[in-house]
Amino acid sequence: MLTYLTAGESHGPELSGILTGVPAGLSLDIDQINQALADRQGGYGRGNRQKIEHDEVVITGGVRHGQTLGSPIALTIRNRDHAQWSKIMHPTAAANAENTLRAVSRPRPGHADLVGGMKYGHRDLRNVLERSSARETAMRVAIGNICKQVLAALDIQIIGYVAAIGGQGADPEQLTDVAQIQAKIQTNDLRITEAAQVTPIHELIDQTKKQGDTLGGIIRVVANNVPAGLGSYVSWDTKLDAKIAAAVMGVNAMKGVEIGDGFENAAHPGSEVMDEIDWTAGQGFSRNSDHLGGFEGGMTSGMPVIVKAAMKPIPTLYKPLQSADINSKEVKQATVERSDTTAIVPASIVIESVVAIELAKAITDTFDGSNMTRLQAQLAAYRQELSQY
Ligand SMILES: Cc1cc2nc3c(=O)[nH]c(=O)nc-3n(C[C@H](O)[C@H](O)[C@H](O)COP(=O)(O)O)c2cc1C
Repeated sequence: MLTYLTAGESHGPELSGILTGVPAGLSLDIDQINQALADRQGGYGRGNRQKIEHDEVVITGGVRHGQTLGSPIALTIRNRDHAQWSKIMHPTAAANAENTLRAVSRPRPGHADLVGGMKYGHRDLRNVLERSSARETAMRVAIGNICKQVLAALDIQIIGYVAAIGGQGADPEQLTDVAQIQAKIQTNDLRITEAAQVTPIHELIDQTKKQGDTLGGIIRVVANNVPAGLGSYVSWDTKLDAKIAAAVMGVNAMKGVEIGDGFENAAHPGSEVMDEIDWTAGQGFSRNSDHLGGFEGGMTSGMPVIVKAAMKPIPTLYKPLQSADINSKEVKQATVERSDTTAIVPASIVIESVVAIELAKAITDTFDGSNMTRLQAQLAAYRQELSQY
């Protein structure tokens, strides 16, 4: 079973990850993982933390001479910023007057700070914010990229990009071809497809930053050549669209998930929404549209998988919001921790990563995921079988 776990605090020594269930015999390209990590650090509207970090993954288990072994893959990403925090975030040195200097007592609205402190009984809310920080998503991107490489070896392509920022749409075409989307988004630092929106959105971000405010947006993920029949209709917890929705909601700041034209479909009659079925000799079954985002009955339909995510605006504002001190109980301005104006660009790579993980999981659940060559052969045979159905 393909599954993973991450550990590590935002300013701790490093992030750690363990990914199990990757087939043996995958040629792993470390440069691709590092490129995905670099992409996660880019994008217009980021704060200064990204100037400090230059994420690079170190693989310490599960891979030999560039090939996966089928054993758990162990990964680490060093936090360069830890050098400034080595006393405050020391894992084992006992707390003293010096290393507890940056204690947090004014919880930031929209963060885990207050409720996390209440639940775990922390009196220094740094104990909450260090782990709830989206720094952890760097590891999910590294793990997601390994899964993306599994998918690529099975001729499945996936991309996540930015469809809107702060209410400003930037994706009028809603393309369903990954290569076409890739060609368009790599021309700008917003990961958007509509070049004409780059300058207006830069201006919007600059203006928002000047006002000490923040922005959210909409992310869209498209996957091509996903075979029909991943996931199952038989029980609620076997439905793949549900698993993808959970994975997307598991990413910091995501407040909505949509499969295909989900919310828009709700406003249309059924005759305009269903993806009518066609059949041609040689090609077999296909659909005339993809309003349902490549899913029927919790299973992939063979059409492009389309997932959208709504990201709330960044909760840390330089124009601070009202909070109340957990010690003095005085109503005061919330703590400001170094922050982005918008993180929609890196978030689009994180969402791409978690969808890739769910697709790789579904494939290795459906076919024998012990060995890459066997998996490729089984999937090819399955695709052939479906084309004859
Ligand atoms: C890639 C990424 C970067 C983020 N960067 C920041 C940031 O710089 N400052 C901030 O306050 N929140 C940031 N967030 C959002 C918070 O991590 C998130 O809102 C917070 O942990 C509370 O979780 P929730 O919004 O899921 O309830 C970021 C989220 C993502 C996905």
